[in-house]
Amino acid sequence: MTITENIINLEKQYLLQTYKRAEFVLERGEGVWLYDTEGRKYLDAASGIAVNALGHHHEVIIEAIKKSATGLLHTSNLYHTAPHALLARDLCESCFADRVFFSNSGTEANEGALKFARKWGRAQGRTDKTGLVAFSGSFHGRTMGAVALTSTPKYRTPFEPLIGDTHFGEFNNLNSANAVINEHTCGVIVEPVQGEGGITPATPEFLAELRRLCDQHNALLIFDEIQCGMGRTGTLWAHQGYGVTPDIMTVAKPLGGGLPIGAILVKEAVASTLHVGDHGSTFAGGPFVCSVARAVLNYINCPEFLAEVQHKGDYLAAKLNDLATKSSLIDRVRGKGLMWGLVCHIPAAEIMAAAPRHGLLVLVAGEKVVRLLPPLIISYEEIDILAERLLAVLEELGITNSITN
Ligand SMILES: Cc1ncc(COP(=O)(O)O)c(C=O)c1O
Repeated sequence: MTITENIINLEKQYLLQTYKRAEFVLERGEGVWLYDTEGRKYLDAASGIAVNALGHHHEVIIEAIKKSATGLLHTSNLYHTAPHALLARDLCESCFADRVFFSNSGTEANEGALKFARKWGRAQGRTDKTGLVAFSGSFHGRTMGAVALTSTPKYRTPFEPLIGDTHFGEFNNLNSANAVINEHTCGVIVEPVQGEGGITPATPEFLAELRRLCDQHNALLIFDEIQCGMGRTGTLWAHQGYGVTPDIMTVAKPLGGGLPIGAILVKEAVASTLHVGDHGSTFAGGPFVCSVARAVLNYINCPEFLAEVQHKGDYLAAKLNDLATKSSLIDRVRGKGLMWGLVCHIPAAEIMAAAPRHGLLVLVAGEKVVRLLPPLIISYEEIDILAERLLAVLEELGITNSITN
């Protein structure tokens, strides 16, 4: 048995089978490239599901890790540490927010945001202002609160009953938003660009209407930027490209450069309803992870870097549109910055499974959408390679499909 087979067998024997893992073992990475134990090389257009924004083995992250490794790793939230305070300041200065609560993941950040919205409702002197609103195509996480605001039935149904007083409107439908948000609503959560739901950007009118409705009904507008935030769409935060400001924003995935950290960013009005003991976390905001996250944030939050993401995003979009004209398997493409979805005529999972044979890693977003989230540091040449390999995958499957049909 090879080392690779041995590792795959151990996984199959000892891990819960809640993921369908690809049949190779990754060993190291450099930039946008990943290498497996058999020496094969893959262009990583998945970025660890939007985490590795700076790719693999990036010098900024390595230096931050080396520098912080000799300092404190963990102290708990009972004590002050500099990295914690400095990262909170840098996050607030990057956007609308006045204060931050750290978490260890995206789900946990959303869970906190939902609790803050419920507290907001109580702070208005009302016990009936508990309604939470989300939209079709949403994905906000897997805990009991976050999954209750996630629309996909297969993620929800096996675990019901979930938290109550949750309501869904139709994404990008203004009438539906009007029908579902009312005086009982304490919070409205939405991804400015839906990730798992199929890489669907919100329309500017939709986000503006949500802002108006939240103001009208004194509800909190929560932007989940866990997947679309931190440069992914070409602005530091996706909502900055829309000119609509939330009351709360949740972030996670790319923030720690691969280390687990999330954050809930809030306006002072929200912060003033939260008091000592209202929320907590043992690990969150530890000095080591905050130091690394600060290095990542400050590297990405630079006008030249973000302008490059926009240019490279335009370049990738042109390549993908060209691909759609060449392959009958693609219906259309949609996205923003370096976050793209290919709406396919065949199950996207078939494309995801075939891609590694062509040295490419891609994701899916729902049944029919192939999701591309390359590291933000991808070069123009590497975008050419990505498009070439994707075409090779589509050609392989196109031929297969015409034979079987
Ligand atoms: C938009 C969005 N929100 C929340 C989450 C959950 O984040 P995590 O997996 O870090 O808990 C995800 C993860 O895919 C996401 O894409």
